Amino acid sequence: MSTPYGSPSAPLLRGHLGGLRLLFLPRHGPDHAIAPHRINYRANLWALREAGVREVVAVSTVGGIAPGMAAGSLVLPDQIIDYTWGRESSFFDGINAPLQHVDFTRPFSAALGLRLRKAAATAGVALLEGGIYGATQGPRLETAAEIRRMAHDGADLVGMTGMPEAVLARELGLEYAMLAAVVNPAAGCGDNQDGISMERIREVSAQVMRDVVSLLAMMGADDGG
Ligand code: HPA
Repeated sequence: MSTPYGSPSAPLLRGHLGGLRLLFLPRHGPDHAIAPHRINYRANLWALREAGVREVVAVSTVGGIAPGMAAGSLVLPDQIIDYTWGRESSFFDGINAPLQHVDFTRPFSAALGLRLRKAAATAGVALLEGGIYGATQGPRLETAAEIRRMAHDGADLVGMTGMPEAVLARELGLEYAMLAAVVNPAAGCGDNQDGISMERIREVSAQVMRDVVSLLAMMGADDGG
């Protein structure tokens, strides 16, 4: 599928999960080869909307900064701090469309968040509610000092893809919420004083994604798709 902004990261996969009708788009591409700062976020969000999507559940792996956000947890963040730079971050950039300033006080959809919380409760999946997601540039992980600064700013979680994805969804009028899977303590946190194991990230990620699938499968149970 092509869009005025180029091609999305992958073809959209249409299917069912439990009673939920969904389209799946792996933002890093089918082989996980697209780095966070090179993802064509505008094409991805545009393609989803063109395909009829109204609600976007962003499944994102993150590092845990706050002590309560241990590896293996699943979190529904409610705020964002954007540390990314140089990414195409608006449809309303005065070039492709007239300049517009959108309200972003509450970056995530409360209605979609509520549905995710209900589905988690029914599915018996523990979902931590609330948290500040800090979006970093990547693809490298952060230094311990950068994480200390982020903690000082109030960030609870760190990931590389939440922005500009969330604001582009807002600009298109899509309901957008994030399921943040904590796959490691952030740099310098917990037992990651001296480094972060990619192998361990992969193991924890596989484990938390099972919870994500159970939760999403339950989401279709109450809404007829
Ligand atoms: N930092 C940034 N992004 C991440 C991390 C992290 O520690 N873990 C998973 N995605």
